[in-house]
Amino acid sequence: MATVPPVTHPPSNPIVSFESVGKRFDNGHTVLEGIDLDIAPGAFVSFIGPSGCGKSTLLRLIAGLTPATSGRVVVDGATPEGARSGTFFVFQDANLLPWRRVAGNVDLPLMLRGDRPESRRKRVDEMLELVGLSGAAAKFPWQLSGGMRMRVSIARALSLAPRILLLDEPFGALDEMTRDRLNEDLLAIRQRDPFTAFFVTHSVSEAVFLSTQVVVLGSNPGRVTDVIEVPFAYPRPAELREAPEFLSLLARTTHALRAALPPP
Ligand SMILES: Nc1ncnc2c1ncn2[C@@H]1O[C@H](COP(=O)(O)OP(=O)(O)OP(=O)(O)O)[C@@H](O)[C@H]1O
Ligand SMILES: [Mg+2]
Repeated sequence: MATVPPVTHPPSNPIVSFESVGKRFDNGHTVLEGIDLDIAPGAFVSFIGPSGCGKSTLLRLIAGLTPATSGRVVVDGATPEGARSGTFFVFQDANLLPWRRVAGNVDLPLMLRGDRPESRRKRVDEMLELVGLSGAAAKFPWQLSGGMRMRVSIARALSLAPRILLLDEPFGALDEMTRDRLNEDLLAIRQRDPFTAFFVTHSVSEAVFLSTQVVVLGSNPGRVTDVIEVPFAYPRPAELREAPEFLSLLARTTHALRAALPPP
C-alpha cells in the first residue's frame, strides 16, 4: 500500500539543522530543550516567543558563539564554529563606530579581512547603493536617523556576502513606519543579494511579513511550539499587510504566540 507523504517535507539539503538541541548554562539553567529544525537555503525564518525563552541563544548557537550542551547544530554541513565566516550578526543597536564615516563603517569588515583598497572601495559603493545610502557615504553616524543607522549596519553585515544573516530584534527600537519601510527594504535587498535569514522579533506582523516560516517558541525550557509556513511569494508589496490572507495568517500566528505564553 502506498504511504501518504507528509504535508511539508523537510528540506533535503538544509543550510541549518537543529537535531534534538538542548542548551543548559553553567548555572544549571536549561534554556532550550529538544529543538528540531531543518532550514532550507534561502529561507527567511523568524523566531517569536516570550521574553527569556531562548531566541537570542538560538542565534548564538547558529553563529557558533556558544555550544549546544545536547544534540547537534549543523551549519552549512559543518559545525557552527567551522562555518562562522559564513554568518553575520545584526543587532538592535547599530553599533557603528562614531569616529568613522558611513563608508568607513561599511568598509571595516573588508579591511579587517585584508581585502585590497580598490576592491574594498567598489564593494562599499555597491553596499551603500543596495541600502539606498550612496548620498550619505561621507556622513558620520551621529548625522543619521535611527533608520539610516540600521541601513548602514545591514550594509556592513552584507559587505562580506554572508550566506546566513542573524538579526536579533534589529528594528525593535524604531517607530512603526520606519520599521515597516525597513522590512520592505530588507526584502528588496534580499532579492538582489540572497541570503538565508534568522530573525528574532516580538512583532507578529513583522515576522509574517518577512518570513517563509515563523517558528513559535514556548519558555521554561525554550522549545518549538509551532512552525507556521508563510506561503506568500516574494517580492512582497507593502499592500500585502492589508490582504485578507495576510490578516488571517496574522491572527493564526498571534493565537499560536498566545498559546506559547506562560500563564499570568
Ligand atoms: N550566559 C548565560 N548564563 C546563564 N543564563 C543565561 C546566559 N545567557 C542567557 N541566559 C538565560 O537564558 C534565557 C534565555 O535568554 P535569551 O537571551 O536567549 O532569551 P530571549 O528569548 O532572547 O529573550 P528576550 O526576548 O528578552 O531578548 C534567559 O533566562 C537568560 O537569563
Ligand atoms: Mg533576545
